Amino acid sequence: MDNSALSSRRILLIVGGGIAAYKALELVRLIKKAGGEVRVILTASGAEFVTPLSLAALTGHPVHQALFSPEDETAMGHIELSRWADLVVVAPATAGLIAKAANGLADDLASTTLIATDKRTLLAPAMNVRMWLHPAVQANVARLKGFDGFHAMSVVGPDDGEMACGEYGPGRMAEPAAILDAIKGLLAGPASRVLAGKTAVVTAGPTFEAIDPVRGLTNRSSGKQGYAIAAALAELGADVTLVSGPTGLSAPLGVTRIEVESALDMQAATQRLLPADIAVMTAAVADWRIDTIAGGKIKKGAGGPPALALIENPDILAGVSAPGPLRPKLVVGFAAETSDLEANARSKLSRKGCDWIVANDVSSDVFGSDGNAVLLVRREGVETWPRQSKTGIAQRLAQTIADHFETAE
Ligand code: C5P
Repeated sequence: MDNSALSSRRILLIVGGGIAAYKALELVRLIKKAGGEVRVILTASGAEFVTPLSLAALTGHPVHQALFSPEDETAMGHIELSRWADLVVVAPATAGLIAKAANGLADDLASTTLIATDKRTLLAPAMNVRMWLHPAVQANVARLKGFDGFHAMSVVGPDDGEMACGEYGPGRMAEPAAILDAIKGLLAGPASRVLAGKTAVVTAGPTFEAIDPVRGLTNRSSGKQGYAIAAALAELGADVTLVSGPTGLSAPLGVTRIEVESALDMQAATQRLLPADIAVMTAAVADWRIDTIAGGKIKKGAGGPPALALIENPDILAGVSAPGPLRPKLVVGFAAETSDLEANARSKLSRKGCDWIVANDVSSDVFGSDGNAVLLVRREGVETWPRQSKTGIAQRLAQTIADHFETAE
């Protein structure tokens, strides 16, 4: 990670009450590691989950808890705190805090500060899946996003997944690393938005090919590299749509996500987004699908396992790369190989008709991990990018794409 990305930037972190509050500690650590400064407002219910002492120790500053506290007001009152900040981050953002902010209800230090601030605000919601899906919560979130100017709040997450309450679904707070990326995106100056006005389509994640209503074929892919690329392109100002197979990841800030399941769905969604300036196809598309999906669950029986007839899926990358009026100006494919990385990538480049291939050696630790090492294979030459975070690879690729357009135009 770039350790100076948040150099001297000031984050006012509001920690609400929820089991995810413990992740706020990791978030503070990450912001500080990236060079940022953090001050914390802890709500009364937040203090049920994390102690002011741990937050004070990590930030190096007293934690603000009360609206009518002579100590807090003389140290730094709510108006001063919001003036001090470059960005306000609410993590976890509870249903209660979201409701208060959406309706201008100011009855404690956190909610008063949210209404008093003239800085941008990022919310990282965390709550039970049923609460998150409740129309009242969804309406409040939509309202907050729709306010004008700096009043419009940005939202990162929540993620899908198993929850502390034992249920499964959207509601888990975004991981601290994803919140940090969103913070960086919001603080990135317009000067670096060199891809503004460009449209980009990114495919990511695996596809899932149904066998029957309960079973399917899939590929191993966390989607992390593709999501990081979508985020990095958006940070440079591109208008990015992410066509994603099933992953547990939240859509990066400022990226439109279309969720699909099968290769055929992914192909249709991708084609509908053309023409575009840029296409980056990172998805691990299943090579085959079941010829005829069973309408009901296939029973285990004396006949032994069913013989599954497979047919080949369309190659989405080759289709997008085909010459014609819809072809993006730059098409980047990915190649996951276990041997002869460069030779395989080169032959893929000509076979698929794309412009560049990012090739990674998947014989070691790549799947689901946060790190990656790749070759960028272009007709004019090959670059080796050493092992670094998937975010680092994504940012370098986005910058290389921006440089390409700068040279070309
Ligand atoms: O042929 P292979 O699967 O190794 O190629 C990988 C590249 O092709 C990736 O960019 C992947 O997203 C893309 N691909 C695709 N549609 C397929 C198979 C692969 O878009 N059916």
